[in-house]
Amino acid sequence: MSKSVPPPYTHRHLLVCTNARDPATGKPSCGMNGAARLREQIKVAVKERGLKGKVKVTASGCLDFCPADGCVVAFYPENTWEISATDAAAGESLTARLVEGV
Ligand code: FES
Repeated sequence: MSKSVPPPYTHRHLLVCTNARDPATGKPSCGMNGAARLREQIKVAVKERGLKGKVKVTASGCLDFCPADGCVVAFYPENTWEISATDAAAGESLTARLVEGV
């Protein structure tokens, strides 16, 4: 049995695929491309802005795009998905979008 509950954030949710696949599989993965570092950068930026409870940054498993470079991020409630670079500039850009209008 389950029940509906309100989300623990009020504005926006970002899923960052951090799945790290064994390189021996020959298939790329976001985790191998620096996704965990990107997620951590965004989480720190959100905390520094005092937005805990308004925005949420969550690591996810594979979202079935598996880019050769970058990682997959999904914004909710917009339901906008993209393949992002994982460098510091990309983290700043994603953070700005995540907190937009908060
Ligand atoms: S490993 Fe990230 S989408 Fe598959």
